[in-house]
Order: sequence, then C-alpha cells, then structure tokens
Amino acid sequence: MTKKNANRVALIGAGAVGSSYAFAMLNQSIAEEFVIIDLNEDKAMGDAMDLNHGKVFAPNPTKTWYGQYEDCRDADIVVISAGANQKPGETRLDLVQKNLKIFHSIVTKVMDNGFNGIFLVATNPVDILTYATWKFSGLPKERVIGSGTILDSGRFRFLLGEYFDVAPGNIHANIIGEHGDTELPVWSHATVGGVPVMDMVDRNPVYSREDLDEIFTNVRDAAYHIIEKKGATYYGIAMGLARITRAILHNENSILTVSAYLNGEYGADDVYIGVPAVINRQGIRNVVEVRLDDTEQGQFDHSAGVLKDILKDNFS
Ligand code: LAC
Repeated sequence: MTKKNANRVALIGAGAVGSSYAFAMLNQSIAEEFVIIDLNEDKAMGDAMDLNHGKVFAPNPTKTWYGQYEDCRDADIVVISAGANQKPGETRLDLVQKNLKIFHSIVTKVMDNGFNGIFLVATNPVDILTYATWKFSGLPKERVIGSGTILDSGRFRFLLGEYFDVAPGNIHANIIGEHGDTELPVWSHATVGGVPVMDMVDRNPVYSREDLDEIFTNVRDAAYHIIEKKGATYYGIAMGLARITRAILHNENSILTVSAYLNGEYGADDVYIGVPAVINRQGIRNVVEVRLDDTEQGQFDHSAGVLKDILKDNFS
C-alpha cells in the first residue's frame, strides 16, 4: 500500500545512467518511492527486482517497482535519462535530432497521465532537451531542470582538490555554460577554503596557471576520455542527479550548477544553460548571477549563442 503523499520519483530510462541513478537513490534513501519505466520492460523489471533485493542494506527502505506512465501522476519528480547517448567521436550536440523525437513522445505521455511535479532531465544534449521538455510539457520554467554542468563542476572541484591537496568539499569552483565543448570555468570566483585560486597560484611557484588550464581541459574533455575507455559515462552523472533530487525533496535551498531557464541573467534569454541556481521543493527558486570577468562573459555569450542557434533551428 503506497503511503499517502510519499515522496515519489519516477525514472524514465533504465539504461546505464538511469540504473546508476536508481542505485544511488536507493543507497542514499533519498525518496520514499521509486518507479522505473522503460520501453525495455524486462530491463526495468529486472532492475526493480535487483534493487529490492538490496533494500534491507540501505539506510531506509525505498518502495521500488517497475511501473507505467500512469505512475507519474503521483510523482513529485520525473527524471528522464532515456535516449541515444554519445558514441566514440560523437559530440553531445550530434544527438539533437534523435533525442528530440524521443522526448516529444515521453513528455507527452507523462503529461497525458496528469503529471504536475518537477522534471529533471539528464539526456544529452541536456540543455536543448531541457528546453524541449519545458516547451513540450507547458510546465512553469522553474519546474523543469536539467543536470546542466553539475557533473562538470564536480569534476572541476575533484581535480582542483587533487591539485591543491584539499578535500573537494572545500573547493568552491563552478563550470557554467553548455554541458559540452563550449562550457567555461569561472576562475574569478574559484576559491580553496575561501582563498582565491589565482592568489594560491600567484603566492606559490609550485602552482601555475598552465596547470590550471590543463585541469579545465581535462574537465571539459572528461566524457570523451571515459567513453573511449568504457563506452559510456554513468556513475558521476548519476550521483549528480541524486544530488539535485535530494536538494529538491529535502527543500534544501542549495546552490547547484544546473541547466536553468535564463530570462536576461548573464545577458542571455530564452535558453536553458548551466548556471548556479538555488534548488528547493519548488524546483529552481532563482538563478544566482555572479559577476563574470570580461573573458568569462565572452565565453558564456559564445556558449549561449551555440545553444540558441540550435533552438532557433528546432523551435522557431
Ligand atoms: C558526461 C555526460 C553525462 O559528461 O554528458 O559524462
């Protein structure tokens, strides 16, 4: 029997990212109910069975089942990870046409079943598909969120932590822009325990700006390297999705770099793009607009322009 008003998350897409997200959600006991929906019913059913067998080992039990689109009616969050993913040599933007068609079908079915919660989009190109989900669903923009650059910022904080030998939790550094080749590091606001990164570099000859540039390159190109080695990425993004889900369901007002709709912030409008935003039970409470330096603003303008050109080709 489903508990009335239980926190329910419905996942659409039981591929590598979706299954890893489900595993992260249950291990962190973030939701009370978790529904897995996929065209491949055997995969979704198998995942639900497999996860339930580990239920006893989780901090708190999550009621998990293989479900149908009607289970989205009472969901607080619908997470979409379904779609084609990058193959070696493909960029995320190469997936636009294939995944737009898939998303139109998915979002229409979710809305036809009476969903009135928050969409969280993971499928690439995530900024374009988050915009598409907003358009196709008709939900208010603050209730449609994309994973954006949360994983890129996680990679950035990890690599900077390794470089400065400091726990990543004490590194405050964001990647913003397209989740893709035009993303950019906000060096002007990056700090290590409150000390600006550039001060760290200028004060100690052990560190260099060339090293920092290499760190950013490794962040931006990480997915290509992982895909070359293991065929896909899924653990990092799954943990980033679980982080966003926790911020929503626990009404945290946490600031995370997600794909959010801009209405003039950072000098861009009518586009979903990775920026810091306050996340709570209502979705995106507000975009956090930090002052970018001239270099960063120019890079952000370029990134937003690349996304808007694709939107113009598909939504005008
Ligand atoms: C990556 C995928 C999620 O960056 O785009 O690993």
